[in-house]
Amino acid sequence: MAPISIQTVLISESVDPRCKAILEENGIRVTEKPNMKRDELMAEIKDYDGLVVRSATKVNADVISAAHNLKIIGRAGTGVDNVDVDAATKKGIIVMNTPSGNTISAAELTCALLMSLSRNVPQAAMSMKQGNWDRKKFMGAELYGKVLGIVGLGRIGKEVASRMQSFGMRTIGYDPITTPEVTAGWGVEQMSLEQLWPQCDYITVHTPLMPSTVGLLCDETFAKCKKGVKVVNCARGGIIDEAALLRALESRQCGGAGLDVFVEEPPKNRSLVEHPNVISCPHLGASTKEAQARCGEDIALQIVDMVKGKSLVGV
Ligand code: NAD
Ligand code: MLT
Repeated sequence: MAPISIQTVLISESVDPRCKAILEENGIRVTEKPNMKRDELMAEIKDYDGLVVRSATKVNADVISAAHNLKIIGRAGTGVDNVDVDAATKKGIIVMNTPSGNTISAAELTCALLMSLSRNVPQAAMSMKQGNWDRKKFMGAELYGKVLGIVGLGRIGKEVASRMQSFGMRTIGYDPITTPEVTAGWGVEQMSLEQLWPQCDYITVHTPLMPSTVGLLCDETFAKCKKGVKVVNCARGGIIDEAALLRALESRQCGGAGLDVFVEEPPKNRSLVEHPNVISCPHLGASTKEAQARCGEDIALQIVDMVKGKSLVGV
């Protein structure tokens, strides 16, 4: 592809310092301005050639129309959910992400939530801090021999499968694109969702958020699950319908949930966060030193490749 001139880049969030360093080593002037309000961002963005974001900056049509020189929007993370890709494409702006930089971190947090759900670790720790010594209340169940359903067998789904297999879990799953032959090679038996729901002790979702995945777990599908099924969402808020999850927790159809993501972040409605059988995190899947270093470095190198006219990845 033809080289594209990028002389200035705005980083609007806390992105690993390697990002700025790599861009500057390649002659690009970098300004870091985290925590801008939308009006401030619209005023600031107008002259920059490039913008680097994580999840918090909403790069909507208004922001894009205020950017007169913008040629690249780079997300140091997986997916481009917070960028209006149609509006950017109409203005000829390239949108790219770093799809694999945080895979391991998101998979590890998923496993941590599965383990915490099986042994009530956060609730027991909280109880200890309150001065209690309650051994009966926190009786758990082994993961060994249990069935884990993995919906979405891409990068993170695969890493979750191999890690949870080491705990002796049977891993089953569903993905419309990754073939059963491929996933059989990593020990995941694929089947239809209709076959999957009633078999699982635990379900974890690892799909993008899109029309076909909104409310994958809803009243209808919770009803098809084993009573007491435990669920994890470390992917995107809304893949598990939040109102249906609360109803399933209340009726005990769902025995517990581990949530890293919410439809609204931070969630104003605290019903799920405050539920005793919910373990939640403030969108920490990618929040490790290693993942942030990889994503910051990857997005900077991808921008530099663009400047040099090399073929693009993560677009
Ligand atoms: P990926 O693209 O590698 O895998 C997604 C998989 O979902 C693909 O194999 C795709 O075929 C499958 N899929 C699509 N539609 C489906 C459907 N209807 N039913 C079942 N499967 C379907 O993505 P990934 O890197 O594994 O990321 C998975 C999710 O995790 C994404 O939503 C991503 O944004 C999210 N994520 C969250 C964090 C975090 O901080 N919590 C960090 C990284 C990624
Ligand atoms: C995500 O894909 O969820 C993000 O990469 C999260 C982040 O930037 O911390």
